[in-house]
Amino acid sequence: MKIMVVGGGGREHAIIKKLKENKEITEIFALPGNGGMAKDATLVNIGAKDIPAIVDFAKNNDIDYAVVAPDDPLVLGCVDALNEIGIDCFGPNKAAAIIEGSKVFSKNLMKKYNIPTAEYEVFTDLESALSYLETAPIPTVIKADGLALGKGVIIAETREDAKNAVKSMMEDKIFGDSGSQVVIEEFLTGPEVSVLSFTDGKTVVPMVSSMDHKRALDGDNGLNTGGMGTIAPNPYYTDEIAKECMEKIFIPTINAMNSENRTFKGCLYFGLMLTPKGPKVIEYNCRFGDPETQVVLPLLESDLLTIMKATTNGTLKDCEVKFKDGAAACVVMASNGYPQKYESGFTLNIEESVADSVYVAGAKLDGDTLKTAGGRVLGVTATANNLEDAINLAYDKVNYVHFDNAYYRKDIGKKAMEVLK
Ligand code: AMP
Ligand code: GLY
Repeated sequence: MKIMVVGGGGREHAIIKKLKENKEITEIFALPGNGGMAKDATLVNIGAKDIPAIVDFAKNNDIDYAVVAPDDPLVLGCVDALNEIGIDCFGPNKAAAIIEGSKVFSKNLMKKYNIPTAEYEVFTDLESALSYLETAPIPTVIKADGLALGKGVIIAETREDAKNAVKSMMEDKIFGDSGSQVVIEEFLTGPEVSVLSFTDGKTVVPMVSSMDHKRALDGDNGLNTGGMGTIAPNPYYTDEIAKECMEKIFIPTINAMNSENRTFKGCLYFGLMLTPKGPKVIEYNCRFGDPETQVVLPLLESDLLTIMKATTNGTLKDCEVKFKDGAAACVVMASNGYPQKYESGFTLNIEESVADSVYVAGAKLDGDTLKTAGGRVLGVTATANNLEDAINLAYDKVNYVHFDNAYYRKDIGKKAMEVLK
């Protein structure tokens, strides 16, 4: 069986490594993948947003099943285009991917179907947004409507900052057309939990919960990044909270999407905040999280391809989705300076003894030599019987990965350990 995975980061590397455990798979193509996954997949130089080229490649290479991993191609309708030529895919179609593609859509969906989320207002013109901000509670949260590489959210601590944020989105268009509508919402507090789930539009099966570490520096300081590390399970997410989320958030969301004729199939990611008033949705993503996938999939015991196909075929109810007990931790190694200016092109040496635990995000082959090529270079994951051992083991493995200018946080999982103690 030939599989194609669209995307090229650490998340995709984790998906590919997990898929490889299925012995029916004869070849995996990564479009475009990256040099660091060359041992696990055949790299194809087609960008994840180039839908006509992706479709052509699938047609000409007898692809049996496609996994569309990143948000951009999903929102652009990659699954629809592949389905049109008869190729089954893991991932939502364009109509359903809007749950991530438009914050205005997702906020209105939650309001209409009573799914707990922050209070909000939507603005399409600058004047009304600015006048609302004269009296809005501070701090406040400003979100650009569309995809903005995870950067479209600004938490404003002062009225002045809030006004500047709105101006930068609506007038200066720092996020392009994404900012033509903005959501201004209530600032919530509480621990954050990521819950990825498999769904076929009827059944929703949450995966093991996880915790991202979004800030660049130790102690949750510094700028927001794509994620500097993750742990799973998230100790704040108790069985009781999980039950509440299932009843008040997960099932209502699946039902709401069906009612809107936007049945969601694939991985629906619930970004939750456990507020003093109960769990609330901070954001939906229409895909696996990065770097959450790098801790969630190593704990998956069942066969990933079988589950993926069950989401496509509508048979998830009868499919085994089992996670190992234990815990996982992933430490992201980045180029020093990320998420701002950084240098690339350094030789990347991953010792053989840890290669299975490394998910490469930003690297390219220069002849036979692997070189760094991105802000987040890779993630090092360890699993163990408990979180403390997983964290220690992940940091131990980091010592077997070498490149100049490497930077990583030293406190991944520290907050989670404090909860457990
Ligand atoms: P996002 O880019 O949507 O993942 O949001 C980035 C981060 O902004 C989230 O992980 C939260 O930490 C924070 N955030 C988003 N919305 C709110 C909110 N309403 N209240 C407090 N923090 C928020
Ligand atoms: N780790 C957050 C995300 O994938 O959006």
